Amino acid sequence: MTEQSKIPPRKPLRSQAWFGRQDKMGFYYRSFLKNTGTPQDQFDGRPVIGICNTWSELTPCNVHFRDLAAHVRDGVLEGGGYPLEFPVSSLGEVTMRPTAMLFRNLAAMDVEEAIRAHPLDGVVLLMGCDKTTPALLMGAASANLPTIGVSGGPQLRGVYRGTYIGSGTNIISMSEQLRSGEITVEEFHEAEAGMNRSIGSCMTMGTASSMASMVEALGVGLPENAAVPAADARRNHLARMAGRRIVEMVHEDLVLSKILTREAFENAIRTLAAIGGSTNAVVHLLAIAGRIGVPLSLDDFDRLGRDVHCLVDIMPSGRFLMEDFHYAGGLPAVLRELGSRGLLHADALTVTGCSLWDNVSAAPCYNREVITPFDAPFKAGAGIAILRGNLAPDGAVIKPSAASPELMQHTGRAVVFESVEEMHAGVNDDSLDIDAGSIMVLKNCGPRGYPGMAEVGNMPIPAKLLRQGVRDMVRISDARMSGTAYGTIVLHVAPEAAAGGNLALVRTGDLITLDVEARRLHLHVDDAELEKRRATWVPPDHAAARGYLKLYLDHVLQADRGADLDFLVGCSDAPVGRDNH
Ligand code: FES
Repeated sequence: MTEQSKIPPRKPLRSQAWFGRQDKMGFYYRSFLKNTGTPQDQFDGRPVIGICNTWSELTPCNVHFRDLAAHVRDGVLEGGGYPLEFPVSSLGEVTMRPTAMLFRNLAAMDVEEAIRAHPLDGVVLLMGCDKTTPALLMGAASANLPTIGVSGGPQLRGVYRGTYIGSGTNIISMSEQLRSGEITVEEFHEAEAGMNRSIGSCMTMGTASSMASMVEALGVGLPENAAVPAADARRNHLARMAGRRIVEMVHEDLVLSKILTREAFENAIRTLAAIGGSTNAVVHLLAIAGRIGVPLSLDDFDRLGRDVHCLVDIMPSGRFLMEDFHYAGGLPAVLRELGSRGLLHADALTVTGCSLWDNVSAAPCYNREVITPFDAPFKAGAGIAILRGNLAPDGAVIKPSAASPELMQHTGRAVVFESVEEMHAGVNDDSLDIDAGSIMVLKNCGPRGYPGMAEVGNMPIPAKLLRQGVRDMVRISDARMSGTAYGTIVLHVAPEAAAGGNLALVRTGDLITLDVEARRLHLHVDDAELEKRRATWVPPDHAAARGYLKLYLDHVLQADRGADLDFLVGCSDAPVGRDNH
């Protein structure tokens, strides 16, 4: 990257269809921006860079994004561009009901149309909390301008009474300790303050950190995008360098579709396995690929991830946190391990203008406890596994690195909950007929069922089993789970129960076999009996839905296709459009 691009434009800039005109419309377009203090020379043909901001006080993980945007702005100005910041829908994972995932596609529409409607030549995407990253990448992919992703960075380590605690992961373990009487409510409250003690996103390898890693592995973000903490000044350096670089990318016409290739997605899938990343990344990568026209399927995750070891000892699968990961060398050190084993498409182009391998081939590793060598991995063969069988004809996912080895091959008696409300009402009832070998089954939590595919697949262990010391059981659903969660949990069953999948037909007492090695998920009920049950199945009643919810229910795809809306799949670039007066 240079301080100021001297490369002449290869083609007329898109923004000149607004600002380059010496007529009535040119007057309109320039004059109204001059009220912000913009002098005439900003309209002289320099790249106009949109800074797409998901700042919101309702998204605490992105609350520092006004500062981050200011650093991008400085970089754009230093690079010779004209920065214009604009807001888009923000998606706060913790506070949005029924689930932020219901609104991912809505936010993606907002991003796509905002980019397309305005006089922008390139875009910097500011994203952090879980769904903000896929929403912005999906929208930007459909508009296909030169684009750089800048993640907000993870929080500093959580600290409670001298020990480090991880977002989400320790919420789950401490809430179970509270339920079993091991800790008091006062201790619980003290831990809350210690966990989220700085700006940034969850500092475990949850969905936010997994997706920030995907941004880097896809080549859409600058090196080190994934792990530099939000509170570290180097996060601001990265934002500033992204501002400089996007100006060059406009001059180079380095549009997103030149970076988001099939090879880039294959690199991302292998990286996801190597970091023990969130199962949510499967749904999001499928959706992003769908937008940019890259064919990608669930089976690609199994095939490409199968030979990849989990190299990073980080919660929820391991011990450390994102801050440790950064100090150890961050994602470049992991990519170097993969690339040196021939597990990356080394020549995949990135936003730096160089190949992925050029970016990471000399990346150092400073701590082999946090980032293990490929020959002595933290966990062997831990890529996300895709299961199939009569319970999931279109697939289901499990994260072996977060599961209990002794449950990876298990047959048990189903204990079925028809809804998440029924599960919550019954799971702590000591009269529930369940033991440690049972398999918990949750229905109606998929894309259409919840609706929105909530993160409820990591059902709590029944209280009476917790008291017996049980800490993991096989759990199966059409839901997602938080990337910070752990356990032997089968997710994203497709087709979902609400779409009439066989999951809808499971009854308490049925036997189910999970065999991760054989990639099998089988319900021991014959076809004739299943058809008998199907005849009495009643689909959910969505007749009262209106507005966005109706649009969503009418068009959402199943999890194996990324849960995007069917009419949003694809890319139509960003033509300059017609005048508005
Ligand atoms: Fe925002 Fe975890 S809740 S990243």
